Amino acid sequence: MYRHQRYFYDLTRKYYLLGRDRLISQMAVKPGENILEIGCGTGRNLIILAKKHPPANFFGLDASAEMLKTAQGKIEARGLQNITLKTALADDFTFDKTFELPEKFDACFFSYAVSIIPPWKESLENALENLKPGKTLYIVDFYDQADLPRWFRKMLTGWLKQFHVKYPQDLIPFLEDLEKQGLGKLKITPLYRRYSLLAEFQKAE
Ligand SMILES: C[S@@+](CC[C@H](N)C(=O)[O-])C[C@H]1O[C@@H](n2cnc3c(N)ncnc32)[C@H](O)[C@@H]1O
Repeated sequence: MYRHQRYFYDLTRKYYLLGRDRLISQMAVKPGENILEIGCGTGRNLIILAKKHPPANFFGLDASAEMLKTAQGKIEARGLQNITLKTALADDFTFDKTFELPEKFDACFFSYAVSIIPPWKESLENALENLKPGKTLYIVDFYDQADLPRWFRKMLTGWLKQFHVKYPQDLIPFLEDLEKQGLGKLKITPLYRRYSLLAEFQKAE
């Protein structure tokens, strides 16, 4: 799907993937830390983060090698040295085998990827598995639009269907269940009248 879309992806997504900049500004990044974006696409978020935090290391994975070609081109054009990309599946990567790192990540995030990854539950579990204890998994994605007019909700849902994107109804219950199991602490922030949400899951120590 992204083979052709990658050329105009950033321009068209700018106005409706809302909340990505909120996530970027909220993420506390320390020098030397390793931060991973899962489903990084054309690298838009990683590039902003890498410029903002030059002494940290950023990693991105995506199932689409075509999207990563665009991302790599943008990274090279900007001369950024602190971003590494790998083609991999969200539910099947590891910090050591995929990225040759000696330790787990200091933060992982999904930006508008949970709503498009079919095995999103397994992918979230895998992200937690590859995160250091006490560190945070961030998710920004579509929410239920419950505070927006019904016509808007209907229009958005129909439109997103074309791109195989669907608000994952059971995302919050799934994360709440992980919290109940004692795996971490959850914070949900609804954004833009519940157009989107920012979830922060701090992994238990
Ligand atoms: C809507 S785009 C979001 C891109 C980027 N995170 C952003 O905020 O601009 C979703 C991305 O998830 C990737 N993706 C879909 N399924 C995946 C999977 N199973 N594993 C890894 N990436 C996947 C797609 O190739 C696409 O690049």
